Amino acid sequence: MSEPFIYSITEALRDGTRILIRAIRPEDKPLLLKHFHSLSERSIYYRFFGHKRSLEQADLRGLTELDFVNHVGLAATIETEGTERFIGVGRYLRGVDEAAAEVAFAVLDEFQGRGIGTILLHHLAQIARRQGINKFAAYVMGDNHQMLEVFANSGFRTHDRYDAGTVRVTLDLADSPKDSRQ
Ligand SMILES: CC(C)(COP(=O)(O)OP(=O)(O)OC[C@H]1O[C@@H](n2cnc3c(N)ncnc32)[C@H](O)[C@@H]1OP(=O)(O)O)[C@@H](O)C(=O)NCCC(=O)NCCS
Repeated sequence: MSEPFIYSITEALRDGTRILIRAIRPEDKPLLLKHFHSLSERSIYYRFFGHKRSLEQADLRGLTELDFVNHVGLAATIETEGTERFIGVGRYLRGVDEAAAEVAFAVLDEFQGRGIGTILLHHLAQIARRQGINKFAAYVMGDNHQMLEVFANSGFRTHDRYDAGTVRVTLDLADSPKDSRQ
């Protein structure tokens, strides 16, 4: 297992809330399932491009048993009374072109718009660059303004291609972005 497996960094949201950004581990299946069931139908639709009622065991294995080389997954978590909760998840999967990866995010609705998607993107980009990935790409529903805004404001050079209600967004990770979170 490579270094990001132990990835664990504390971040502060704009309102001062402390969150942990950490690698997703195989034993996180219950936390990930709870996170999924706490998402609104709309957020699930935007994330999975369709309606999805639950995550099967095979889905959970695929989403938590990661090699951190071709599939990297990070969770944003908070701890309340000693119990950790996933409030956001971001991941990338390396493509056939090994210098490019598909990214995807899901932040709990009640925590959206507080900078978590942006923070996850920047951590994923840092890990990706260390692993020789210089492009992130994502299919985004055309009306998913929040996701499009996160990419547009990320500080990375972006390229958008519109196709039948979806946007194919490509981010160039080669240059360090100005930190757009300040
Ligand atoms: C898309 C998503 C990951 C973004 O995460 P987030 O934590 O909400 O994003 P951030 O708080 O970092 O940024 C949201 C930005 O979107 C913009 N925004 C927020 N609400 C918006 C709206 N209704 N319309 C347009 N832009 C909006 C803002 O510019 C905000 O940035 P700012 O607060 O710095 O100005 C999250 O909303 C989510 O999980 N949505 C459901 C699943 C999904 O769409 N996944 C993407 C599939 S690839």
